[in-house]
Amino acid sequence: MSLWGGRFSEPSAAEFKHFNDSLRFDYVLAPYDLQASRAWANALHQAELLSQDENAALQRALAELQQAVQANPELPLSTDAEDIHSWVEAQLIEKIGDTAKKLHTGRSRNDLVATDLRLYCKKQAEQILAANLAAIEALVGFAEQYYDAMLPGYTHLQRAQPITAGHWALAYVQMLQRDVIRLREAIRRIDICPLGSGALAGTTAALNREALAHELGFRHANDNSLDGVSDRDFALDLLNVAATGMVHLSRIAEDLIFYCSGESGCFSMSDRISSGSSLMPQKKNPDLFELLRGKAGRVIGHQHALQMTLKGLPLAYNKDMQEDKEGLFDALQTYLQCLSMLAFAIPEVTVQREHAAKQAALGYSNATELADYLVSKGIPFRDAHHLTGVAVVKAQQQQLPLEQMPLTELQHISAVISDDVYAWLDLSYGLNQRCAQGGTAPAAVKVTLKHAKDWLHAA
Ligand code: ARG
Repeated sequence: MSLWGGRFSEPSAAEFKHFNDSLRFDYVLAPYDLQASRAWANALHQAELLSQDENAALQRALAELQQAVQANPELPLSTDAEDIHSWVEAQLIEKIGDTAKKLHTGRSRNDLVATDLRLYCKKQAEQILAANLAAIEALVGFAEQYYDAMLPGYTHLQRAQPITAGHWALAYVQMLQRDVIRLREAIRRIDICPLGSGALAGTTAALNREALAHELGFRHANDNSLDGVSDRDFALDLLNVAATGMVHLSRIAEDLIFYCSGESGCFSMSDRISSGSSLMPQKKNPDLFELLRGKAGRVIGHQHALQMTLKGLPLAYNKDMQEDKEGLFDALQTYLQCLSMLAFAIPEVTVQREHAAKQAALGYSNATELADYLVSKGIPFRDAHHLTGVAVVKAQQQQLPLEQMPLTELQHISAVISDDVYAWLDLSYGLNQRCAQGGTAPAAVKVTLKHAKDWLHAA
């Protein structure tokens, strides 16, 4: 039986019912709907709208349903209820008869669904937080193992300066740490209870909404019923975190795909996380990382979709808001899965130290060192930059790296150059020089590593 048949003389058309029903996706809210219903029944009892016995009967029946749903989360799908709220009420009526019909006193599906969704989001956000921390831990482990491994660093995807693999990994640690901070802020904003907002104008039940909020584990009850039933900012906040988080996962995936490619070869992936080609026997493909990159589009799409759905909605509840769920559920699950996959995959990636160090030395990546050397001999940086550019062209013509250019050749470029220039042109010299806070020198990486570990410890 539907929750709203009284004023209708004809049943819904099957076509409309199918279009309108949300049970096929909102069934995942069952545990939260049952939790919210238990708290609501207690509140009604305290407001003397349910007797002790009625509340006890409802609590028993709701607890039984909680167990049944825990054993089989898809249980609601065996009925044709309109949505999860209708399903719970129908089940309760089946179990305890007329008393069940009192549960909806003073509440609406509008405040109920907003409450269910916040409970769901809080739970998901906490799982995502844990997965984010695990991914950070994996990256910190990688950084620790490779804190001194040389790697070509790029700007514009042109070889720029050598970096360390540890430094590379810790850059992503920074991004994921910011995601954790954003997530915590989002959780704080989810943590407000709209139950007791009624359909839109508030509830007639004389209940203590603050106590109800606390019983459900929320910080506070909301302060405006119109906003309570129509606010989905908390879902948008989470989707924004997920979208930005997926941008980070997509970028690390792209870096990994590149460093694992035949063109770079600085990293390699274990067979456990690689796939082959059905045609080309030699192929070893980075599907895992491509999926991380690909799924970013999907999550960002869901974030965009909800923003679009909400824009232009009048107060208060509108059925458009039922469209908040499928994308949100999919986005949060996808983000969670991708974080877990990253944590799983990072230990399966190896830096090819020797090859990577050779690669790091190519492309005149020590040119900045020559300029700095000239500066140390009193030449203004702008002139040093120009002279070094001339030296690079000369070296290119002779097909030599800078460090193999004969001293006399270098002295043609500037007379201040002497034998000590070769120490500056050594790859590890430049690397070790970048030891100020946040630099790529192994010594600086060790400091950042310690910060990251302390942060993780306190998280
Ligand atoms: N299935 C609905 C949703 O997800 C529940 C709220 C229905 N409220 C209403 N007034 N029709 O939004």
